Amino acid sequence: MAVDGGDHRTMQKRIQYLDEQNRALVAIQDKLERLSDFRSDMILSHDIPEILQSGIAKFQELVKTEACSVFLVDADGFEFRHEISLPERVGTLMEKEIDAQILSGTFGWIISSGTPACVPAEVFGKAEGRRLSVMIAPLSNKERTLGAATIVFEQDEDFIRQQTLKLLYILSGFFSLSLENAYLFEDLKKSYFDTIRAVANSVEARDAYTRGHSNRVAAISKIIAAEMGWNRRDLEMIDWGGVLHDLGKVGISDTILNKPGKLTDEEFAIMKAHPSIGSQIIGGIAFLEPLIPYIAQHHERYDGRGYPAGLKGEEIAIQGRLLAIADTYDAMTSDRPYRKGLDARIAYEEIVRCSGSQFDPVLVRAFEKAFKAGKIV
Ligand SMILES: [Fe+2]
Repeated sequence: MAVDGGDHRTMQKRIQYLDEQNRALVAIQDKLERLSDFRSDMILSHDIPEILQSGIAKFQELVKTEACSVFLVDADGFEFRHEISLPERVGTLMEKEIDAQILSGTFGWIISSGTPACVPAEVFGKAEGRRLSVMIAPLSNKERTLGAATIVFEQDEDFIRQQTLKLLYILSGFFSLSLENAYLFEDLKKSYFDTIRAVANSVEARDAYTRGHSNRVAAISKIIAAEMGWNRRDLEMIDWGGVLHDLGKVGISDTILNKPGKLTDEEFAIMKAHPSIGSQIIGGIAFLEPLIPYIAQHHERYDGRGYPAGLKGEEIAIQGRLLAIADTYDAMTSDRPYRKGLDARIAYEEIVRCSGSQFDPVLVRAFEKAFKAGKIV
């Protein structure tokens, strides 16, 4: 049967339309695959900021958005707190947008429905003077809502919007799983730390004169490390490294631990085992491993005359070199049964005097800077 001109054009249009749809489908499939690859890369991470940051960065590689943000429910489970936005500068605008969506009731409706949905962006649209939409995807586990992933984007064809919604659904599923995983891991970590902290506290409880020493060592070390520009994760570890550094003293007898005055050579040899005992206690627990240098090496000296291993210079991990300064400073300024603590200024001068011999000169410079700025007292 002959096809007339009109039918031919209609058919051509139809073929063109199907072709476009097909290409869009291939593109979306490719995006889905790339998002799944990313999921398997990140699934083992327990670092919430890292997971969220890389998740939304990946999403933005695949979908054109004006902004992409994550809001998390606070510990009480009542309020949504803005956690991260990309680009960062739109964070405040996103907070206002979500507030407006909460006020209008749309946000609550989407969250309780449990599935992502797309609505006109109230605040964002006005600010940008364009027709923008916000897509909101709830993050949840079986028991509760964990937060929401949101994107703001230019109103688009319905077909593309549906695909974007699907991608956001996948991303929110991944975020929900990772958050649950990370929270469980946090709980587990906390119970481990609490148990070990109880052991460390029992050491301090046996010696009234060192009470509070571990916490002060952690605080001083953190100030020096901040001066050195350490990152958030390393700074977090210092708290535990400081609190647990003398953990091994649990294996040293009271007569040696509480002896007023100088230890005999024999007693000192026993005392010198506490860094090794401490690292044995936490050895084998994977996430406590970053604490080992604090515990094992806080009595090493930069000139190699320390213990237990007699390591020298940069053979000593930076954590050990750092703690050595804070530990010595606090020991000098604290009262002991047989002597009163030194004045802060004198203890400071003593640390500076031992730069390059007992202590790492680079870290002493950071200590000096912090002391002069009044951060260490
Ligand atoms: Fe010690």
